[in-house]
Amino acid sequence: MAEIAPSILAADFARLGEELAACERAGAERIHIDVMDNHFVPNLSMGPEIAAACRRSTRLPLEAHLMVERPDSIIPAFVAAGVGLVTVHLEAGSQTHRTVSLIHQQGARAGLALNPGTSPLLLAPLLQSIQLALVMSVDPGFGGQRFLPLALGKLSELRAMIAAANPECELEVDGGVDCDNVASCVAAGATVVVAGTSVFSASGGVAAGIGCLRERMTGISASGSQPG
Ligand code: DX5
Ligand code: ZN
Repeated sequence: MAEIAPSILAADFARLGEELAACERAGAERIHIDVMDNHFVPNLSMGPEIAAACRRSTRLPLEAHLMVERPDSIIPAFVAAGVGLVTVHLEAGSQTHRTVSLIHQQGARAGLALNPGTSPLLLAPLLQSIQLALVMSVDPGFGGQRFLPLALGKLSELRAMIAAANPECELEVDGGVDCDNVASCVAAGATVVVAGTSVFSASGGVAAGIGCLRERMTGISASGSQPG
């Protein structure tokens, strides 16, 4: 079963603790923290202090998605705040191997994210060094965007690459994931699904949002077949 990672970018920050508790009660496996610097993406979001506040509010593992131009300078602060997995963008610079090493030196797991226009083949040189590959199904910078179906082919391609090079590596999809497309994402090979709007703006509340995602992905395997 794929894991569900609610993105707090879509949460009500006036009630962040309550929102995190609702995610935990509803069975989310981790919390996704979207960090934006208004340079790499045209938006500004949150810093290590929010990660620390999340750490105080939930027992769930925290992952930081750094949509920033110079990730090296802020990675230590996020790990010190309690983030256990740090994902940076392959497009954020040319020293990616050094950044992945820095994340590991800080004691965290490392992820690499690909924008919709970036080929999975560019991940090949580092695929054996990372613990998570993130396929963006929207152009990064905002929650609530429409899911880009091109992500499904990239998930399938990365699923095969991971099987050959690093079977332990997680495969995450992020952006516009909802009840209508989550089964396709899992069938294409996603093992973690990030969901912001479909969780925190669900008409029936967080539990209903997570419940719908869980129900739609139940029984779906990476091959797309339904077992049994
Ligand atoms: C977009 C972020 C995503 C986004 C997910 O730049 O990386 O994590 O917040 O939110 P939804 O599910 O609303 O697209
Ligand atoms: Zn994200």
